[in-house]
Amino acid sequence: MISQKSIQEVFETAKIEEVVEEFVRLKKRGVNMIGLCPFHSEKTPSFTVSPSKNIFKCFGCGQGGGPVHFIMEHENLSYPEAIRYLARKYGIELEETVSSPEHLAEQQKLDSYYIINKFAADFFQEQLFDTDRGKNIALPYFKERGFREETIQKFGLGYAPKDWKALLEEAQKRQHNEQLLKDLGLVSEKGFDFFRDRVMFPIYNLSGKVIGFGGRILEKKAKAPKYINSPETEIYNKSKILYGAYQAKNAIRKADECILVEGYTDVISLHQAGIENVVASSGTSLTTGQVQMIKRYTPNIKILYDGDPAGVKAALRGLDLVLEEDMNVKVVLLPEGEDPDSYVKNVGATDFKQYLENQAQDFIFFKANILMEEGKNDPVKKVELIRSVVDSIARIPDPIKRSLYVKECARLVDVEEQLLISEVNKVIGQRLRKLKKEKDREQLPEPGQRNEPFTVEKHPSISEKQEAASESKVAGHEFQERDIIRILIHYGDQLFDQTEKITVAEFILSNIEDVIDDFDQVLYQAISREALERLSQGQAVDPTYFTNHEDQQIRELAVDLLSTPYEYSENWEKKWDIYLNTQKMPDENFVKDSEHALKRFRLKKIVRKCIQNQEKIKELGQAGDVENMMLHMRLQQKLLEIRNELAKELGTVVL
Ligand code: UTP
Ligand code: MN
Repeated sequence: MISQKSIQEVFETAKIEEVVEEFVRLKKRGVNMIGLCPFHSEKTPSFTVSPSKNIFKCFGCGQGGGPVHFIMEHENLSYPEAIRYLARKYGIELEETVSSPEHLAEQQKLDSYYIINKFAADFFQEQLFDTDRGKNIALPYFKERGFREETIQKFGLGYAPKDWKALLEEAQKRQHNEQLLKDLGLVSEKGFDFFRDRVMFPIYNLSGKVIGFGGRILEKKAKAPKYINSPETEIYNKSKILYGAYQAKNAIRKADECILVEGYTDVISLHQAGIENVVASSGTSLTTGQVQMIKRYTPNIKILYDGDPAGVKAALRGLDLVLEEDMNVKVVLLPEGEDPDSYVKNVGATDFKQYLENQAQDFIFFKANILMEEGKNDPVKKVELIRSVVDSIARIPDPIKRSLYVKECARLVDVEEQLLISEVNKVIGQRLRKLKKEKDREQLPEPGQRNEPFTVEKHPSISEKQEAASESKVAGHEFQERDIIRILIHYGDQLFDQTEKITVAEFILSNIEDVIDDFDQVLYQAISREALERLSQGQAVDPTYFTNHEDQQIRELAVDLLSTPYEYSENWEKKWDIYLNTQKMPDENFVKDSEHALKRFRLKKIVRKCIQNQEKIKELGQAGDVENMMLHMRLQQKLLEIRNELAKELGTVVL
């Protein structure tokens, strides 16, 4: 592992403009620099580089981060690989720490899995191009399917020979450990090759390493299955990977859309036709993990179905989870009897694209239409259909989008809009109550837990904010918490007190240590804890640390907080019950800002404690536990004192 000290050195040395300029032409624009975004296709530049903050941010596609992140995304590297890349660029010698023996052994095992899979993929490729059966039977099979040589290379296709031990014997010759091949499912427990006489489709992870294989039979044998696949292994988690994602990811970002098809051959044929933003779920139904992977690149997903009505209806059921991820889902029905592979070969790329363009339908309307057709003359079925549509709409997190769907669907299924609204609200209410119950049971939520009712996560919409604020003024602590985190990230390493040499981070963290458990937002809590941990180890808490953070959520939040101008409006203070800084330049005012933010934060937490304690007093009173009640009353006195003191300093009135 690279030592923390070396990583810090890379952070401090790497200049965002120098790193980006190797790939993007930048022009000066005020204090920043701008250029055409390398992560999505655009004609006017919205890709901004801020040398002073050492970050980039694209206002078109939302990508943003520090130098490390830029290299990770642009060059498809992992975090440590990107650190090494930058160290080479700047001639920094990296210091390696010794890991624990268990960690090292685990790491070595994973590395050797990748090596074995790479060896197998190379072996299958050689068999395809350099052996008789490969050249005379397997290669012609691909050619007959219309796959060109460059496509075969691009997807690393190969051929597994007919013999029982061809791969195993080659592995033994090279002194590879047989057990590793067994672990990976390449060799059976009895010691025979798993894939025999099949054309091979390697499956890659997002950084282009082979993690598994699919093998297709050559001759039509009634008994053997057409496709067989590697099992799940430590490096192949089927619910998190989509076939073709590695080859498609840049195209997905450029097109701002991901096309989802069923299988290997569909992906490859479409690629070859120049439609490269395609991935396949490989026959199984879509999982949340797969959707989240797509979401890293685009919120738009277009799903292609063979035109078989029964199959389509079954597939629709699995789609609600895509809605929950706040993705825009469109579906396209292909003509009866065609799959993407056959259809693109029949009509060619231009007509195929045109067809997708014309036929794409919004998922919810599509669903409503299909079910409507069925329920036309059957009132019982119609009720079922409305239920099912309501259920889908209720999963959409964005309330504005939700209300648009309600309007349109009310028209489609011919019911009163108001009825649909109240049905949707009922379902949302049920779900929130269920979530709340689960949360109460869990007590301490994990960092990054999703879908908490009425708390705002990354990009809150206005109406969500209203929901949060109006539900209860005491409950909504989002603003105060975010403000604290903003100051911590932005000014953490600045001196709060010149004479005492206390940094802003030290000031803030020492003052919230006692209420750190009271954060509502788990992400903010995690950040505070991590910052505290760094302080205790004598490491700096500075913006660079967060904008280069390995965790995507933390990094994106940091970039957002640094690149959004501090907005405020007159109404906010009243409306959201938050303090607004009246000074024009928060950058020059962080000392005062930190003090105020801290007081507002503490006031919120103390007020909540007061309310909770009051309830407790009531409870104890009813139970006749006088002794404890007195104790809590004294505590209440103290809490009220603190509360009043804080309120006085802030000039606010607390009722
Ligand atoms: P197809 O049956 O069309 O496969 O399934 P194919 O190889 O194109 O066969 P032919 O030539 O049309 O008869 C399409 C996709 O579904 C997946 C594969 O990914 C394939 O590319 N599939 C199909 C499986 O995973 N397992 C199967 O048994 C069949
Ligand atoms: Mn097919």
